[in-house]
Amino acid sequence: MFYKTSDPPPLPHRPFKSLVVPRPIGWISTISTDGKVNLAPYSFYNAVGDDPPMVMFCTNGPHKDGPLKDSRINAEETGEFVVNLASYDLREQMNESSRHVERGVDEMALAGLEAAPCNLIKAPRVKEAAANLECVYLQTVEMPSWNPEHVNSMVIGEVVGIHIRDDVITGDRVDITKIRPLARMGYLDYAVVNEVFTMKRPR
Ligand SMILES: Cc1cc2nc3c(=O)[nH]c(=O)nc-3n(C[C@H](O)[C@H](O)[C@H](O)COP(=O)(O)O)c2cc1C
Repeated sequence: MFYKTSDPPPLPHRPFKSLVVPRPIGWISTISTDGKVNLAPYSFYNAVGDDPPMVMFCTNGPHKDGPLKDSRINAEETGEFVVNLASYDLREQMNESSRHVERGVDEMALAGLEAAPCNLIKAPRVKEAAANLECVYLQTVEMPSWNPEHVNSMVIGEVVGIHIRDDVITGDRVDITKIRPLARMGYLDYAVVNEVFTMKRPR
């Protein structure tokens, strides 16, 4: 099978998102300039460097109240955001926090999660998450969109502080099998990291 991505797809759902997998989920918490907490999951998310550590999340399509999603607006207006680690035990809360609600509605409270203060920035973090990355906003990259009413953009931030829950550290390492991070697959599917293996790099 081959198809041009600009043509109608040969399968009922466009297969692209089921091929770029697994995608980590950036569970982004922010605070607006008027003090409203916001939380939403973003699977177009990843690390983009480690000296300094940097992450990006991409906001696509419109918000019900306008062209831009709250996470992008808040990150740009306040200059900060938090990435909370979405793990299997928090899957329902993560899903709930993606609900399309009016601007200013606190999805952290809506999902029954507790806000904990950050150390270096004003935005709150999800207390229940096994790890949280405190980020300072760096820049937004505008990207093309097929739909003139949609905005596709990449929000990049520098990770300035990291919280890790003590119980997910075994010896001197983060034990990812204790965290069990969620990953986004295609369709309505998710995966969970339960198992890891090690390979030495060739010299
Ligand atoms: C697992 C998951 C991944 C998502 N990934 C994205 C994404 O990468 N980009 C995006 O714009 N929306 C994504 N969404 C939808 C947003 O979470 C949703 O539009 C949310 O309401 C945005 O909230 P905000 O306006 O408060 O930022 C995702 C939803 C789920 C459940």
